[in-house]
Amino acid sequence: MKIPSLRPLIVIKLGGAALTNKKRICAPRLTVIDSAARQIAAIHNRKSVFIIHGAGSFGHIPVKRFGLSQGFKKSSQLRGLSETKLRLLEWEVLLNRKFFEHGIQTVPFIPSNYILARNGRIVSCNVKPIETWIRLGCVPSTGGDIVPDLATGFSVVSGDQLAVYMAIKLHASMLIFATDVDGIFDCNPKHNQNARLIEKLTLSETHQVAANMTPDVTDVTGGMKSKLDEASNAARSGISVYFVSLLKGRRLQELAMDHKRVRCSVIMPS
Ligand SMILES: Nc1ncnc2c1ncn2[C@@H]1O[C@H](COP(=O)(O)OP(=O)(O)OP(=O)(O)O)[C@@H](O)[C@H]1O
Ligand SMILES: [Mg+2]
Repeated sequence: MKIPSLRPLIVIKLGGAALTNKKRICAPRLTVIDSAARQIAAIHNRKSVFIIHGAGSFGHIPVKRFGLSQGFKKSSQLRGLSETKLRLLEWEVLLNRKFFEHGIQTVPFIPSNYILARNGRIVSCNVKPIETWIRLGCVPSTGGDIVPDLATGFSVVSGDQLAVYMAIKLHASMLIFATDVDGIFDCNPKHNQNARLIEKLTLSETHQVAANMTPDVTDVTGGMKSKLDEASNAARSGISVYFVSLLKGRRLQELAMDHKRVRCSVIMPS
């Protein structure tokens, strides 16, 4: 049988801030995961989907605890590295089991098996196997990870970087970041109740908003500030990048299916 051609592809980054409680180690939010899986199953009836997920409290907390964010310094780090990799694997299995229970034909991918980085940036990645699974009608799933690094031994590659990289390589029609806030605000909505949602951003407005943000210390990959920097790369490649809440109703599904008027933010492609 001939392998089908690629349908319009949506890359969805499920944020660890929504899927887990980032303040407690390995604390999944099962109702949010169920809701995400239900919405993605519905989206996949109409479009191809590639899921990238954040590591949430399965990644950020152990990476900090074992001092892994600056790369390889001494052999005594390797036990912590190994423990972190096992926690990430458990996270992958938990999430994929949920996706499967909701009828998604998921195929998990472990980034450190197919990605090489240099100074924390992806320099080599074989996307062909992923593309082939997508064309068959499967939904690959992969997430932020610690990967081998040509300059620093190993490095943390965020789900955000991965999502943008994949969206560009696979010519996605849409890239959606679903997380625990309604979109991009003029300041952190968790710290300021008067924060205003910015519905549409040009690339230069995105850079301005990012420049005014203070780095998030609980997120080892730079939180919303880095997310915006990564997202700009996708918008610069002509991809519309959306930010939507995973905690409210079926906004992810509504946005992905027909761009129905949903409360969200978009960075307009240039
Ligand atoms: N101006 C802003 N607009 C929107 N959110 C902001 C802003 N400034 C800071 N944030 C924070 O960014 C957080 C989301 O980024 P974060 O990287 O934690 O999410 P995530 O991608 O879901 O997590 P992970 O990195 O584990 O996948 C929100 O919880 C919010 O508090
Ligand atoms: Mg993050």
